[in-house]
Amino acid sequence: MKDAKWFTNQVALVTGASGGLGAQIAIGLAKRDVQLILVARNMTKLEQVAAECQLFTTKPVDIYSCDLTDDASIDQLLGNLDASYKITMVINNAGLGYLKLAKDLSESEISQMLQLNLNALIKITQHFVPRFIEAKSGVIVNVASQAAKSATAKSSVYSATKFGVLGYSNALRLELKPYGIHVMTVNPGPIATDFFDKAEPTGKYLEQLGSVVLDPVKVAGEVVKGIEREKREVNLPKTMNFASKLNILFPKIGDKLLGSIFNKK
Ligand SMILES: NC(=O)c1ccc[n+]([C@@H]2O[C@H](COP(=O)([O-])OP(=O)(O)OC[C@H]3O[C@@H](n4cnc5c(N)ncnc54)[C@H](OP(=O)(O)O)[C@@H]3O)[C@@H](O)[C@H]2O)c1
Repeated sequence: MKDAKWFTNQVALVTGASGGLGAQIAIGLAKRDVQLILVARNMTKLEQVAAECQLFTTKPVDIYSCDLTDDASIDQLLGNLDASYKITMVINNAGLGYLKLAKDLSESEISQMLQLNLNALIKITQHFVPRFIEAKSGVIVNVASQAAKSATAKSSVYSATKFGVLGYSNALRLELKPYGIHVMTVNPGPIATDFFDKAEPTGKYLEQLGSVVLDPVKVAGEVVKGIEREKREVNLPKTMNFASKLNILFPKIGDKLLGSIFNKK
C-alpha cells in the first residue's frame, strides 16, 4: 500500500489529459500532490485542466501538445520530457473508438485506433521501461476497456486494440514485477465522456445504456485507489466485469447473449 508521502514524490505523465477520464485522473493525482505532465492535442483544454489541477497541488503541472498518432511527434515529446523530468509514473489513457460494423470502418478510422490506442501506448511504455528497470521502481497504468474482455458487434477494431493493450500489459506485468514496477490495466465499461462524440455520434447507444454509464470522476477515483493499493486491474462496473468473466467461461452462451439481448450498439 502506497502512503501519502509516496504520492508526493511521484512525477506522472498522463496522456489524453485534456478531458474525460484523463482529466479526472490528473485531478485525482493532483489531490495527492503528484507532479503532473499532461499531454493531448488541444492546448486550450489542457490549460483549463492544468488550472483545475493546480488548485489542489503545490507541485508544477506542465502541459504538452502532441498528436500521439504521429511517431515523429511522440519521439520529439519523449526527447523533451527526458531533458526536463524524471518521470516515475506513466498513465497511458489517450484513446478513441469508432463503434461501427467492421465493413463500414474506413482505413483512416482503423489506422487512428491502432495508432493511438495500441502503437502509441506501446511506444511510450517501451521508452520508460529501461528507465524504470534502472530505477527499480515505477508505475505503468494502461487504460484498456471492458471491450478488452468481451468483444461485441461494432467494436471489432476498437476491441482488437484494447485486447492488444491487455495482452501487452499482462506480459509486461510479469516481466517487470522482479524490478518492483507496478503495471495496472483499467477496464471500464461505458463512461460519460466526449468519447461518444466520435464513437457513436447518434447518441442512441449511450441513451439505451442508461444507468450503466459510468461517471469519469468515479472511474478516476478507482484508478488512483488502484495505484495506491497496487492492484492488477481496475474493472468497472462490477456487473459488466462479472458478465465478461462468464463470457470467457461459456463463450457459446456469451455469443448468443451478446448477439441478442445485450446487443445495444
Ligand atoms: N468513454 C468510454 O465509454 C470508455 C470506455 C472504456 C474505455 N475508455 C478508454 O478510456 C480512455 C479515455 O477515454 P475518454 O472516455 O476519456 O475519451 P475522451 O473524453 O474522448 O478523451 C480522450 C482523450 O484523448 C486525447 N486524444 C485523442 N486523440 C489524440 C491524439 N491523436 N493525440 C493525443 N491525444 C489524443 C483527447 O485529447 P485531444 O482531443 O485534446 O487530443 C482526450 O484528452 C481511452 O483510452 C478510451 O478508449 C473509454
